[in-house]
Amino acid sequence: MWTQDAYIKAMNYAAEAHGEQKVQGKPYSYLYHISLVSMELMACLQHEKHEKGDFILQCAILHDVLEDTETSSEHLVLDFSRDVLEGVQALTKNTSIQADKRMKECLERIKRQPREIWMVKMADRISNLQEPPAHWDKEKIHHYFGESQVIYDELHEASPYLTQRLALKIEAYRKYLA
Ligand code: NI
Repeated sequence: MWTQDAYIKAMNYAAEAHGEQKVQGKPYSYLYHISLVSMELMACLQHEKHEKGDFILQCAILHDVLEDTETSSEHLVLDFSRDVLEGVQALTKNTSIQADKRMKECLERIKRQPREIWMVKMADRISNLQEPPAHWDKEKIHHYFGESQVIYDELHEASPYLTQRLALKIEAYRKYLA
């Protein structure tokens, strides 16, 4: 169950926070990424019953505001809730950790959160498993593929629908490995 007004509230907040930010390596607004992630979750919510649809979609829409914008935790909790704040914090990479250990550490934090947050992480990766950016070398592409498999292995219990969707996207990504 989710409502349009909760979606709009989060979207207004994300639009304000991300402002002119673009998708990495593309001329598109960052809201392109946000809309794909929330779309994957809306599709999932049509197929699976989840009590906290608004929570899922708000965390999806807000998932990068702490990582990529000036938004403070204090501001986010005031406009939303402690649960949303903690979910978004878990989805935020810790840049004080060595780059190659960041994903593992982030997944450990996500796994201490409710399943809804696992779902947002899966939808994020589903949305990002498209043709790799032109500046990525083979090593980076292989790394991204392997990392996607780790996300699958760690989080697949959260949602059969997203699991199936992530598996399809990982399979399709194989063509960029050669
Ligand atoms: Ni993202």
